[in-house]
Amino acid sequence: MTTRQRIQELRRLRAEALAGGGQKRIDAQHKKGKLTARERIDLLLDPGSFNELDMFVTHRSNDFGLGEQRIWGDGVVTGYGKIDGRLVYVFSQDFTVLGGSMSEANAEKICKIMDLALKNGAPVIGLNDSGGARIQEGVVSLGAYADIFLRNTLASGVIPQISAILGPCAGGAVYSPAITDFIFMVEGTSHMFVTGPNVIKTVTHEDVTFDELGGAAVHNGISGVAHFSSPNEPACLAGIRTLLSYLPGNNVDDPPFVATDDPADRADEDLDALIPDSPNQPYDMHEIIRRVVDGGTFFEVQPDYARNILVGFARLGGRAVGIVAQQPAVLAGVLDINAADKAARFVRFCDCFNVPIVTFEDVPGFLPGVGQEHGGIIRHGAKLLFAYCEATVPKVTVITRKAYGGAYDVMSSKHVRGDINYAWPMAEIAVMGVDGAVNIIFKDEIDHATDPEARRKELVADYQAKFANPYVAAARGYIDEVIEPHATRAKLIAALDMLKNKRDSNPPKKHGNIPL
Ligand code: HXC
Repeated sequence: MTTRQRIQELRRLRAEALAGGGQKRIDAQHKKGKLTARERIDLLLDPGSFNELDMFVTHRSNDFGLGEQRIWGDGVVTGYGKIDGRLVYVFSQDFTVLGGSMSEANAEKICKIMDLALKNGAPVIGLNDSGGARIQEGVVSLGAYADIFLRNTLASGVIPQISAILGPCAGGAVYSPAITDFIFMVEGTSHMFVTGPNVIKTVTHEDVTFDELGGAAVHNGISGVAHFSSPNEPACLAGIRTLLSYLPGNNVDDPPFVATDDPADRADEDLDALIPDSPNQPYDMHEIIRRVVDGGTFFEVQPDYARNILVGFARLGGRAVGIVAQQPAVLAGVLDINAADKAARFVRFCDCFNVPIVTFEDVPGFLPGVGQEHGGIIRHGAKLLFAYCEATVPKVTVITRKAYGGAYDVMSSKHVRGDINYAWPMAEIAVMGVDGAVNIIFKDEIDHATDPEARRKELVADYQAKFANPYVAAARGYIDEVIEPHATRAKLIAALDMLKNKRDSNPPKKHGNIPL
């Protein structure tokens, strides 16, 4: 063969590989409202930046007719490319080839890019769309999954790992995304479950659809398995690009700095009037976050889960920060099991990847109730406490209103190595709410008063004046500065700038034992 013929042959083989499972299956994919593996990569990465590896890998099995179904690439497209000019590694399962099922060869391709990503310190993005273990390969595909789980675990905390679920993801296959840092899902077309509707029907006699069992709404709103839900695939892939803009490539880099024309000393006078006079009246914490951060942009993570706490990314003076904030508009911003889990995982992510943590605190305490106690609020609340204690990134707190009880300690207080704690003048830093405190310590006195209600009111006013303010804590240095709300942005940026070279560490150990 001449050189020219060899080049022609390569082009022909490439064209075959690019066709995946063929036009009929591509059409079927499109008909379901899904893109192909390669179309997804094109939308995800900077134009023309993708370098595919292992295009000509095939499986090695001849069982159950597989010998006649040897397709270049074997059902997964892998390689590296750029997002906003920064290196990322990608695998994209090709449902048009044997349902994107996981084979030995398929896993070898995924492991290859995971190994490269770990060595070179760049994120891995997995685009999942697969019928699960390749049934014809039997136990080999189980081993293949485990090879990936191991790499997911070893890479955790070293490089960001992001999963998009863009079709089925069932059985043990769910555990690779579950180990990664963030899961994106698409409404209507993506599903995750350990056992599907048919098995459930047989075992528990429950009737449930795919969507009701493991659709985007379920995992974003009920189970907390997923972090983002999108109406369609292009929006999902754009979301991944946005998320990465806040993250470093690995655990030794800093997140990218994005210059802003939003002035660092911008005062927002409306913040001074935002907190209602009555401590029992709710307000929307989103409003405070938006008014403080660069350009009002808050990229919220898990917006539909445990809505009594907000977590997400933003920038202050160009630097990426992770924000954790109570939401007084939902359950008064109380800490419950799900809120503690959600925030703890986010705090740990930020700490892994050098993202400073800004905490906005307005917390009446932990949620009382038999359900919460029996559900293990002690264990779950401890996760958040552990996460904040352990975190060595810069930690800056703003107490906007309530900081009651153990929840005060938890939310990045000075005692758990919060670097700077600000309080607004309406902050109430106390062991518990005023009414509750008076009812306990003055119970006898109130019961025996000639006018119990009048006496109770007097005692409440007295206790309120004494403790429901930031100055008792400030007098002990638990609060570094009481600030006027309008100055919050300037104060946070100053603190983060002051902390930009912070070095802190934990005692040497194999790893801690977070109460999971
Ligand atoms: C081999 C598979 C496959 C699989 C699908 N296909 N799943 N081939 N192994 N696991 C093939 C189909 O035969 C079909 O081939 C093509 O992919 C498209 O599948 P359809 O069924 O036509 O698509 P659809 O109607 O959209 O249904 C998708 C599906 C269904 C719901 C995912 O395919 C399905 O139920 N698949 C099997 C799921 C499963 O039980 N997997 C194993 C789970 S055990 P043709 O040639 O017709 O196009 C497991 C253990 C993992 O995963 C453990 C890890 C630790």
